Amino acid sequence: MILQLKLLALSLIWWSSINVEYAVAATRNPRLINTGCSQVNASNPGSFFANVNDSILEMREEISNDNKHFGTAYKARGEVLTYAMFQCRNYVSKNDCLACFNTASTQIRNCSKANGARVIYNDCFLRYESERFYQQTNEIGGGVTCGNKSSNATGFRAVGQQALVDLQTATPKIKGFYAATKTQVEGGSAIYAIAQCVETASPQKCLDCMQVGYNNLQSCLPSTDGTAYDAGCFMRYSTTPFFADNQTIDIRPYLKEGGSSKKWAIIGGVVGGVVLLLLLFAWRLFTKPKRVPKADILGATELKGPVNFKYKDLKAATKNFSADNKLGEGGFGAVYKGTLKNGKVVAVKKLVLGKSNKMKDDFESEVKLISNVHHRNLVRLLGCCSIDQERILVYEYMANSSLDKFLFGDKKGSLNWKQRYDIILGTARGLAYLHEEFHVSIIHRDIKTGNILLDDDLQPKIADFGLARLLPKDRSHLSTKFAGTLGYTAPEYAMQGQLSEKADTYSYGIVVLEIISGQKSTDVKISDEGREYLLQRAWKLYERGMQLDLVDKRIELNEYDAEEVKKIIEIALLCTQASAATRPTMSELVVLLKSKGLVEDLRPTTPVYVETNMMNRESISTGSPSNATISISVLSAR
Ligand SMILES: *[C@@H]1O[C@H](CO)[C@@H](O)[C@H](O)[C@H]1NC(C)=O
Ligand SMILES: *[C@@H]1O[C@H](CO)[C@@H](O)[C@H](O)[C@H]1NC(C)=O
Ligand SMILES: *[C@@H]1O[C@H](CO)[C@@H](O)[C@H](O)[C@H]1NC(C)=O
Ligand SMILES: *[C@@H]1O[C@H](CO)[C@@H](O)[C@H](O)[C@H]1NC(C)=O
Ligand SMILES: *[C@@H]1O[C@H](CO)[C@@H](O)[C@H](O)[C@H]1NC(C)=O
Ligand SMILES: *[C@@H]1O[C@H](CO)[C@@H](O)[C@H](O)[C@H]1NC(C)=O
Repeated sequence: MILQLKLLALSLIWWSSINVEYAVAATRNPRLINTGCSQVNASNPGSFFANVNDSILEMREEISNDNKHFGTAYKARGEVLTYAMFQCRNYVSKNDCLACFNTASTQIRNCSKANGARVIYNDCFLRYESERFYQQTNEIGGGVTCGNKSSNATGFRAVGQQALVDLQTATPKIKGFYAATKTQVEGGSAIYAIAQCVETASPQKCLDCMQVGYNNLQSCLPSTDGTAYDAGCFMRYSTTPFFADNQTIDIRPYLKEGGSSKKWAIIGGVVGGVVLLLLLFAWRLFTKPKRVPKADILGATELKGPVNFKYKDLKAATKNFSADNKLGEGGFGAVYKGTLKNGKVVAVKKLVLGKSNKMKDDFESEVKLISNVHHRNLVRLLGCCSIDQERILVYEYMANSSLDKFLFGDKKGSLNWKQRYDIILGTARGLAYLHEEFHVSIIHRDIKTGNILLDDDLQPKIADFGLARLLPKDRSHLSTKFAGTLGYTAPEYAMQGQLSEKADTYSYGIVVLEIISGQKSTDVKISDEGREYLLQRAWKLYERGMQLDLVDKRIELNEYDAEEVKKIIEIALLCTQASAATRPTMSELVVLLKSKGLVEDLRPTTPVYVETNMMNRESISTGSPSNATISISVLSAR
């Protein structure tokens, strides 16, 4: 349980949260539970906050005119988009809803210029963002506050626990995602409890959120009050009535499918006070998080954070990290193929990191962050293991290994054009997610064909994201030991350590050229005009309108549309432009890739390439760069 709460704390990465002390309040005064402000300011505050103001007006109208308890508002001024949402608990009257909304809309100004904000009250919540969040339920991190008064009624914990389990089960099945119950406790007081999800969530997302909320809230028992909140759901119980008895909802019809354990639980609730059953509940309480996840609760389990693997299990899975099981050696350490006791095949990565305590903390928070990244074009982190100096990550296993094998290795030439195009697009999508859609912008820093894994359908999945942040700052660029790989690294990052998403854009452009040409970026071709790296060659061919000469001769001519390939080469060259500012963002690239026709108005400018003295590359990768010569050559056609 302690671990769970710790992970909860770690999940508040984006939101700088203020938890407000819980105090029992019988009146309808809105009580502030949690506030959060995005740590990024709106890039165009004028338009953004005009949008926010419009949204608030519109939603207020919905409450006062239509008696709505839930609503969203979307506003666009030019390029500036604003998404907003409010929700009142269903038990509050129209006037109380309006009062809570007004309080919330004042409090939310507290976030000043932030491009996202939320305020959660006991009776309502309000949130706005510059990105769509309506389906989110527990991506951002919730919390729990428990009252400090404990009930000493016999069986209180067991009855409370059952009431909460029932709410968790029933609410996602009820239209409108709201339930309110009153449960009598033997010997006096009753437990009033509600659960609610945002109406824009899916039932599954609602359930995921309820499960996290339930797990947090049950830790409050036997306290007489508890409130669990999250981005898209809310649960609260109290022995103090906070809604009228005639406002309860009969949830029994939604509990019927429950298994035998539920029946036992209901009997337990009725009988109450029987010591044996209390023991049973205590057992359930402590064993529940460890239960083998069924398919449908996998989501919620994962949201509790990464699985902590036992070192001895990983050792057994990889046959003591044997050479036979070794899949490769990456920038952060060796990767092994492992077979867990349950038969699942995984990739086990033994990290080589520093030894400081700071690194330990960084590791935990980074692992927590990475394990929340879910995208079909990104390799899933399943869990970790941290023992003494060892830091081990466990990833999903990709049987087809990495893209470089298909371009330059033993499977060279086996990808057709359609497959190459899918990899180009999928990789862009994965990066766009890391940069722009995940709540913390993650710059990969080491995009290369060796870090793009292929699944059974040859769809790309990017590996190793997030890890570069663990490198000490002074080791994070080329002047000492940089996080990237020569041949792929953007010059401003390699030379000056200037890091932005556009460094990934650059590396992505190089990868695209490699996919199209089947030539390694560091391979030199000798032409009439001397030695040429891939990027130099691509640029020269492009300038002469001969870019189709770049295409891998192993791709059948009739497989691809010449105009499409030309367009993609042009897009790759947009990515490798010297000025980082002029390179497109990854989401722009996704749009460009999917659009028909040429990129008329976006003429790439001259690329820059980090050229290294081949003799000295060894010394760079071993970390003693003093004698390495690194030169930037600005490539031009003539
Ligand atoms: C955001 O804006 C506020 C108020 O204008 C300012 O105090 C703060 O430093 C800004 N934060 C960032 C990260 O730019
Ligand atoms: C939005 O409303 C607030 C409060 O009413 C006001 O201070 C602010 O100037 C408004 N912002 C814009 C951009 O209209
Ligand atoms: C924001 O709200 C918190 C808690 O209500 C308060 O302590 C803080 O001073 C407020 N900040 C601003 C800038 O109003
Ligand atoms: C509960 O917390 C409140 C606020 O912190 C405090 O005033 C009160 O004395 C506490 N009650 C108990 C029983 O600890
Ligand atoms: C139970 O709680 C009541 C008040 O809530 C208190 O007066 C009583 O002493 C408590 N009994 C025990 C055994 O703690
Ligand atoms: C619910 O009970 C309250 C009094 O507690 C009463 O005013 C109200 O009319 C009742 N509502 C319904 C729908 O019965």
